[in-house]
Amino acid sequence: MIDDTLYPSLLAPFTLAGKTLRNRVVHASMTTLMGANRGVTEQLIQYHASRARGGAALIVTEPLSMAPHQNIPYKVRAWNDDNLDGLQRWAAAVESHDCRLLGQIQDPGRGRHAPGRNPDAVGASALPDDLSWTVPHALTAAEIRKMIDDFARSAERLQRCGFSGVEISAGHGHLFHQFLSPWSNARTDEYGGDLAGRTRFLAELVAALRALCGRAFIVGLKLPGNDGVRGSIGPAEAAPIAAHLTASGDVDYVCFAQGTHARTLELHVPDGNGPRAPYMPLIRVLRQAIPGVPVVALGRITDPAEADAIIERGDAELVGLGRTLVADPAWLSKAARGRAHDIRYCVSCNTCWDTIVTQHKPIACDNNPRVGANAEVDWWPSPASQRKRVVVVGAGVAGLEAAWVAAARGHDVTAFGSSGEVGGKTRLRALLPGGEALSSVYDYQFAAAQRAGARFELGVTATAADIIALRPDTVVLAAGATMLPPRWLPHDVRDLVPDLRTAMSAMLGHRGKQGGAAVIFDMDHTEGTYASAELLRTIFDRVVVITPRESFAYDTALVTRQGIMRRLHEQRIETVVLSEPRWSAACEDGALEYENVLHGGSGVISDLAFLAYSTPRAPDYSLCEPLRATGIEVRLVGDCLSPRGVLAATAEGHAAGNSI
Ligand SMILES: Cc1cc2nc3c(=O)[nH]c(=O)nc-3n(C[C@H](O)[C@H](O)[C@H](O)COP(=O)(O)O)c2cc1C
Repeated sequence: MIDDTLYPSLLAPFTLAGKTLRNRVVHASMTTLMGANRGVTEQLIQYHASRARGGAALIVTEPLSMAPHQNIPYKVRAWNDDNLDGLQRWAAAVESHDCRLLGQIQDPGRGRHAPGRNPDAVGASALPDDLSWTVPHALTAAEIRKMIDDFARSAERLQRCGFSGVEISAGHGHLFHQFLSPWSNARTDEYGGDLAGRTRFLAELVAALRALCGRAFIVGLKLPGNDGVRGSIGPAEAAPIAAHLTASGDVDYVCFAQGTHARTLELHVPDGNGPRAPYMPLIRVLRQAIPGVPVVALGRITDPAEADAIIERGDAELVGLGRTLVADPAWLSKAARGRAHDIRYCVSCNTCWDTIVTQHKPIACDNNPRVGANAEVDWWPSPASQRKRVVVVGAGVAGLEAAWVAAARGHDVTAFGSSGEVGGKTRLRALLPGGEALSSVYDYQFAAAQRAGARFELGVTATAADIIALRPDTVVLAAGATMLPPRWLPHDVRDLVPDLRTAMSAMLGHRGKQGGAAVIFDMDHTEGTYASAELLRTIFDRVVVITPRESFAYDTALVTRQGIMRRLHEQRIETVVLSEPRWSAACEDGALEYENVLHGGSGVISDLAFLAYSTPRAPDYSLCEPLRATGIEVRLVGDCLSPRGVLAATAEGHAAGNSI
């Protein structure tokens, strides 16, 4: 039962373009990469229908292909009649849950994340993209007008298919943003120059949409709030842009985005290294420039009470949730039923961004192994046909996920964890700077496992005999992996130099300052290593990170890497590339020599006070063969199968628990 006294402001209805929204929750546009062959897939429909079923009042789709030049396989084609059936089914699946569906109009323009240039890019001016240095073809005035016409006709097709409106994405450094900003728009014709010129493309598009689709069609505008680039659009420029574009009364809502396609891209998806809801102070200021225009607050809003307070204070009329609803489509319906503690919260890790942008795979989530799967909303497994005895070895996030799902399916589950607490390496990461939100992964799993009746043996390193004594039908081995000592570290001194995880576990309780340099040898390049460096920086005079690669944080998404690089710089953490330490007796006296791996040149850190290595990990599957030898079925999951991150761990634990 919905209890509308719980979050009265968030649950209050609202009206846009004469259409009723049942509450204030907007699913912000998220590229899912679930479209295929330029068409609508069942998974794409399912993903959005689940978010509608879970409570969202309005969903903005990912960018659609709204003009013939937008010829990308995963973008759903809306500029001709190829997909009428798919578009209709998509709209019906969402709207049948009393949720309004808006198609997004966007073009990347010159923006490109991947290495290399985009020879097909179009833009405001022939000026290079800040990340890829792509120089676009500068659109002619005739091409702009053709594009406006294409976009408006496609929007009208969406309307015929049952969509309630469109959102124009003019933030994030894409094409419209490029026109708005003097940094990227150096045109001398009517689409450049002063504010009226730079906003003309968008203003004409809004007018064309209204002319073709009428007043009862929602037209939303995502605008830059502060793109963080000097000479581009800061708050002082964002306010008049918003005022100018909404003056006609044709825009139904405005949503302010941050960052742009430059070194500030990280700002558009704020992670755990900053405050929650970081853009509310700016949104509060900018909304004053557009009195009477509904505002969608956006940016790391993850908690229902936080969202309710934003509406209640009058800081915005609606809240936009991107990653929050990827992590849990039932976010609102759980909250509204007094079950906020059951939400799988967004941990702001940006794995979702990494999956689509770096890996070119459908969107995935560290804390939701079922993104886009069927029955995703408030999922609880159906009972297994036969109850089995299951032993899970390891209470990290892979083991915990397997344990709760298997127990919820009715199996008799015993889980061993060598530590006294659950969460494994993810718990350690949660205790390092920027990691706090990660606790939601194992907190949810542990609570669900207990609710489902799993038994835990914590602080016990299970032997094969312990496990066999329980007569299991199946063992899920989730014993993790251990960092390998680097080759430059002689065998006889390995006791002197710990791996970074062991070292950081010991440092967590450390109080006070310590002189000298802390050195991390980095063959890891994931963000836990740099979070460790940040913690060490609060203790030691100096922190030096040495890597044999030519740069740092290779194995992180671009948006994560930008933040890492910025913090390393801000905290004056020293970095040495293309180098490896050279061990000698002098190390024990505090002098660490390192050598360039290309030319052999050397340097020395003369005040060494701490040294640890962060290296590739070897899986620990030592129990596998002894157990299999007795005929027990053994499944390896997470790092124990192949060392990777939280995403693989939760996904594999989930699949194992769900298939026993
Ligand atoms: C994986 C991912 C994909 C996104 N795709 C889009 C997109 O296609 N269009 C868009 O306007 N914004 C996109 N965004 C930005 C979100 O709409 C939103 O502005 C941002 O994630 C901040 O909101 P959040 O903190 O609730 O996630 C994307 C963000 C992420 C993380």
